[in-house]
Amino acid sequence: MATQSATDVPRTSFLFRRPPAPATGAPPMRRTNQFRRACRSWLFPYLKSRLAANEFRPVLSFFYTDLNCNLNCSYCYSRGKNIPGMSWETACAAVEWLERQGCRVLAYMGGEPLVRKPFIVELTRLAAQKGFFVYLPTNGILMDRDFIDAIGEAGVAAVNLAVDAMDGYAGIHKNLKRILPQFEYLVQQEKRYGYHTFLNINITGKNVDDVMALTETAHRYGIATDYHISEPPPIDYEGFDPAGTDVWIRESHIEAVDELIDWLIAKNRAGYTMVNSIAHLEAMKRFIRRELPAWPCRAGRVSMVIRLDGSFAPCFEYYASEEDWGDIRRGPRFDEERLTRLKARCSPGCLSTCNYQVSHYSQSWLRSLQWVAKHAYSQFFGVS
Ligand SMILES: C[S@@+](CC[C@H](N)C(=O)[O-])C[C@H]1O[C@@H](n2cnc3c(N)ncnc32)[C@H](O)[C@@H]1O
Ligand code: SF4
Ligand code: SF4
Repeated sequence: MATQSATDVPRTSFLFRRPPAPATGAPPMRRTNQFRRACRSWLFPYLKSRLAANEFRPVLSFFYTDLNCNLNCSYCYSRGKNIPGMSWETACAAVEWLERQGCRVLAYMGGEPLVRKPFIVELTRLAAQKGFFVYLPTNGILMDRDFIDAIGEAGVAAVNLAVDAMDGYAGIHKNLKRILPQFEYLVQQEKRYGYHTFLNINITGKNVDDVMALTETAHRYGIATDYHISEPPPIDYEGFDPAGTDVWIRESHIEAVDELIDWLIAKNRAGYTMVNSIAHLEAMKRFIRRELPAWPCRAGRVSMVIRLDGSFAPCFEYYASEEDWGDIRRGPRFDEERLTRLKARCSPGCLSTCNYQVSHYSQSWLRSLQWVAKHAYSQFFGVS
């Protein structure tokens, strides 16, 4: 692939149109409020977790309300087929448990959270009232104006819209064209409700040009991006065949993906707001060559997963783990030795954007302050 610049990005008709003006009429949430919220939900829990190093005090929890989904992205093993979602009782008990542990960041995960919109709105309201920073990842297809107003009013802090292409094609279903009206309304209402919007983009062997186009689009709309490298799971998932999936990055894609990553690093240095640190983007190059060394993942310590039935897992990748990691009734079973053994095996084959950032920013007090400052001042946040 020849080196591309911003001007080489495919000119899909809606890409370069003028973003709509922000909504007027309601008082915008002030930066000082965002800074306060970032301190309350990220910094203080993190500092407390460092001071009480012998206790289990997760800073960030991934919260699965549904595994069902209205799509079937080729790379995704994290979806079920018509499985009952989390009950309201379990959801309330899980939020209370997290609150007791000192955790104040609740990141929905799935499946597609919006398959039960009223459930998500009410749970967001409950958690936001308790001071949680609530993060909502979604493919956006079921989003409409009423939902955006309802979730904004309920107190959501970040909406992460997952799109992998400007327009859809085989294996890549999440595209911006499909959700453009709701995307524009979501961005328009940001200041009114005080949430951040950003685009969540999965880099595959098929969508290199689209990643550039989406990056430019996000920049024009004044929102952040976060990038994931699509990767096969470390364990088996029923009904998911990694070998039958055609979107992994293979040998023949390395050159093109390398050039994309260099382009993203240049954009990051030029001031585009991205969740991924340059270190994470650089690690992607080693990852696609299978040369990534083991890294100090903090899953099961600083971050964790709550499954549909209220049981725990260390991370997204181990959702289907059959080991006992504890649950909201009995408490956690994340013993350090077991986690260390696990990560020595799995971390060279995993580049979890969220856990890699968590690992980076939780290495020192100074780095955690940087995280909060980024949050408050550059609309920065990202998970998964
Ligand atoms: C599992 S989905 C759940 C929320 C929502 N349905 C969505 O698509 O964002 C969360 C994110 O996981 C990421 N993901 C899913 N499968 C992945 C894989 N094999 N490798 C890397 N990231 C993956 C996608 O980027 C997706 O946006
Ligand atoms: S990545 Fe999200 S939208 Fe795609 S199948 Fe998985 S859960 Fe559904
Ligand atoms: S490195 Fe961390 S996030 Fe990745 S699979 Fe292992 S435990 Fe999970």
